[in-house]
Amino acid sequence: MCGIIGYLGDREATPILMESLKRLEYRGYDSAGVAVLELARPGEEAHTTLTKSEKKVDTLISKLQANMPTGHLGIGHTRWATHGKPTYINAHPHTDCHGKIFVVHNGIIENFAELKAELQAKGHNFTSDTDTEVVPHLIEANYKGDFLAAVRAALKRIHGAYALAMFSTDDPELLIGARLNAPLVVGLGDHEYYIASDITAIIPYTKRVLVLGEGEVAAVTPLGATVSTLDGITVQPKLIHVDWDVSQAQKSGFAHFMLKEIHETPEAVANAVRGRLTDDGIVSFREFDVDDEKLRSYNEVLLLGMGTSRHAAMVGEFLVEDWAGIPARAEDASEFRYRRPTFGPKTLAVVLTQSGETADTLVGLHRAKERGALTVAVTNVFASSAARDADGAIYLHSGPEIGVASTKTLAAHMVSLSLLALRLATVNGRISLERRHELVAALRALPDQIRELVDREPEIAKLAKRYSRYRNFMYFGRGLSYPVALEGALKLKEISYVHAEGTTGGELKHGPIALLDKEFPVIAICTASSTKDKMVSNVYEIAARDAPVLALVTAGDHSLDGVAKDVFEMPAAEESMAAILNTVALQLFAYHVAVELGQDVDQPRNLAKSVTVE
Ligand code: AGP
Ligand code: GLU
Repeated sequence: MCGIIGYLGDREATPILMESLKRLEYRGYDSAGVAVLELARPGEEAHTTLTKSEKKVDTLISKLQANMPTGHLGIGHTRWATHGKPTYINAHPHTDCHGKIFVVHNGIIENFAELKAELQAKGHNFTSDTDTEVVPHLIEANYKGDFLAAVRAALKRIHGAYALAMFSTDDPELLIGARLNAPLVVGLGDHEYYIASDITAIIPYTKRVLVLGEGEVAAVTPLGATVSTLDGITVQPKLIHVDWDVSQAQKSGFAHFMLKEIHETPEAVANAVRGRLTDDGIVSFREFDVDDEKLRSYNEVLLLGMGTSRHAAMVGEFLVEDWAGIPARAEDASEFRYRRPTFGPKTLAVVLTQSGETADTLVGLHRAKERGALTVAVTNVFASSAARDADGAIYLHSGPEIGVASTKTLAAHMVSLSLLALRLATVNGRISLERRHELVAALRALPDQIRELVDREPEIAKLAKRYSRYRNFMYFGRGLSYPVALEGALKLKEISYVHAEGTTGGELKHGPIALLDKEFPVIAICTASSTKDKMVSNVYEIAARDAPVLALVTAGDHSLDGVAKDVFEMPAAEESMAAILNTVALQLFAYHVAVELGQDVDQPRNLAKSVTVE
């Protein structure tokens, strides 16, 4: 969801806002805008210049370059529209009747219609269709000479989700940030301060970051940042030191972030394992340090996530059941919260979320916590909402993921889940030392195997080029390959806008097979597994219907030669590691289909990196 940046400091604000918005664009790109408080010249009053564009950040930057506002205080926004079309009028920042108060917002003001009607009745004049515009008007209505007090009073009336950055032309040395159910951080520089929706925006400037808590307000002045509640009670915010570096948030010569991030998968996998696994397969997690006896007391594992992270959850479900023999279920977090809960204090709830800020997933996490489950967030973002709200955290340590389509973090999620499953299997005495040694060897070999696979990108690109003429795709697999099939289909539809669906080998002939003909290719995941022979039979059934098949098989397996139209040989690997390798191959395939079709791979239409609304 949208990107927010605010700056107050000794330097010129506009170039910093421009650079930061470029880094934040992955969060939303429906429109963009900045407001900069321009210094008063002799004989003039201070005033704020608003520059907006109904297009992406680059258009905004061109406008700003042609007409650069000068000043040391400013805010910027790149939007992911929820209320009102992506037009110039609806682009943030929004302002009050007198053009003095400027606000950028991420989230949804759920009671905006009621507030807007009330404010309109009092004579406030609205110009946009957004929910956000009620915020500056509500602050204006509460303003009695103290901007911070007016902000607090206004926010007390608002329901829903917000991360806000705001200032008033009448207070040239005050930048305010506030959050509720949406992330916001305050960066502390040298004589300068930043407010941002996420750390990526500000990593080139500072590594010292205050993380705001729910319902907190940060007031930033040249003297420092103070954080308080809506009732004005001062709180001590958490100060963290970020270890991401700038090069990780740049493309480093790759055509797209997505491609760069696929190439970073070997490191992401190695980082997820580092320091957590002994040679004998004993697993420990520093920030999820539960003793063996307690861990043994959980008789069910619930895994929650959305999108790609839900596919990770499905992999986790399989591994926990298969290795540890504990009942496990993966759930779509957004559906789970509305069902009658059948779990409680004996449940271990594992919440999968790259960003740690996905609203649907956070609500699922809170529901699990309310019911007394032990919760652990598996996330890439340090001190994210999921990490803070859960009882424990397993960090992915993948470095920032900028491409909207998740890639390297899925591999890291899958590896983290195999470590967790291994830990559960060990404490429950369900796994032999020999098998543990096998898994340790497999996990340690994986980064090199991924490297080898990624080096074969040209072969995959060639296949993708040929297949890019089709408008529909069916992906299918059994067991661990089923979530991999779903993920392959999701990747393709997300970035190439080609219709794709995923199914199981068994389900295929109960309906989906009716779709198949020579214009409807099938991607069959047939690498070594206990159900491989069944998959081979399914491919025969498909080939008999003339549908072109692209099969992933284990190196040296010739059972589909002459049956599948194309066979791609994957490195031989333990089944759970093969699932990761297959995922990477399908990511590269989707990437090259999208490139062939000329799509905007890193910023696919209608999507946002982190979906912070339900
Ligand atoms: C992945 O390619 C998608 N963009 C999307 O499905 C994503 O996985 C989902 O929104 C969940 O995000 P999270 O992992 O940050 O919670
Ligand atoms: N709800 C606001 C809007 O539609 C903010 C959306 C966002 O998070 O970008 O403008």
